[in-house]
Amino acid sequence: VSTIRWTESATTRSVRWHSENASPPPHPVVPVDDTIRADTAVRLAVAGTGLLWRGDYHNGRQLLAALGRRVDRSASPGVRATVLGRLLIHLDADYALNLRRAPDVRPACVAAYGPPTGPMVVSLRELLGVLGAHQWRLRGVAVPALGARVHPHYGVFAPVRGEYVDLVATAPLPARRRTAFDLGTGTGVLAAVLARRGIAHVTATDSNPRALACARDNVARLGLAGRIDVRPGLYPDGRADLVVANPPWLPGRPTSTVDGAVYDPDSAMLRGVLSGLSAHLAPGGEGWLVLSDLAERFGLRTREWLLGEIAGAGLRVVGRLDTRPRHPRAADPTDPRHAARRAEVVTLWRLS
Ligand SMILES: C[S@@+](CC[C@H](N)C(=O)[O-])C[C@H]1O[C@@H](n2cnc3c(N)ncnc32)[C@H](O)[C@@H]1O
Repeated sequence: VSTIRWTESATTRSVRWHSENASPPPHPVVPVDDTIRADTAVRLAVAGTGLLWRGDYHNGRQLLAALGRRVDRSASPGVRATVLGRLLIHLDADYALNLRRAPDVRPACVAAYGPPTGPMVVSLRELLGVLGAHQWRLRGVAVPALGARVHPHYGVFAPVRGEYVDLVATAPLPARRRTAFDLGTGTGVLAAVLARRGIAHVTATDSNPRALACARDNVARLGLAGRIDVRPGLYPDGRADLVVANPPWLPGRPTSTVDGAVYDPDSAMLRGVLSGLSAHLAPGGEGWLVLSDLAERFGLRTREWLLGEIAGAGLRVVGRLDTRPRHPRAADPTDPRHAARRAEVVTLWRLS
């Protein structure tokens, strides 16, 4: 547990520091309020000082936005995130945010962090992410293939890009289809699609504890608890008629707990799925690997590498279904990776 220290009204205070991207606590820390000028705040934050916000909540949000505009846009995303993460807020022992005009952030904090264990300091930027995620969780994301909504928890991959879900909803099922594994289940959405398609028993796994809790929550809401088991890890024991996996689409190191579903360090999960497949497929069974070609378009991996891994694992491609994303960023011309995103193809590889 790391702590953060500052002096206020001639008293030294020390409180638990929490950061989802494992940022070290900034030092020194100075309390600031509405009287600080944005230029001063930028200068301090860039130099490494933590700014503990004591002013009005909405003014704090505006200051964060102003910092965002001023921090050099050519700075790498990591540097930018670090500097913006130096505007801090203090949460009371029950997660109450004691600032003028502050909303009640307690339910969102309990949902993201679990039951409170005492006062803590987090960055305002992280708190805004927690609040946004809570809205998603309450509202849910419509999944047409299920005719229902799934409710993503904080830090769990949300199926907002429905096109890959449709691939799993429409690909031809193998002749024998009693059991399935859904590896890296996230919200549990693909396990639910398989159960709704008539697979009698699905085992869904994930390495992220938040995903496990989230998948169990969604499975129960959808009334599928009797047919979907949610377990930690990658491969469960035994074999299945169908193994589905939608691993993180980009090789690379996640910089926070919330992008562990986007980045797969060294393609570890992808390689784990492929290397374990033949030992976990029942006779006549099929593996469905859902993968975007974005990593290839960004030059992070090649098609030859992927096909080599598939062949190296003793697998054969028996078919593929392609789809084009309907992702809003695909149509955003200000996105520097626009061209790659516009051309992106998501493929369901059928492997045996
Ligand atoms: C792209 S998300 C897909 C989630 C869900 N299947 C879907 O399609 O919406 C990838 C998931 O794989 C999980 N994951 C990443 N590495 C893993 C590993 N080594 N073992 C198990 N799960 C892993 C992540 O936590 C995440 O939930």
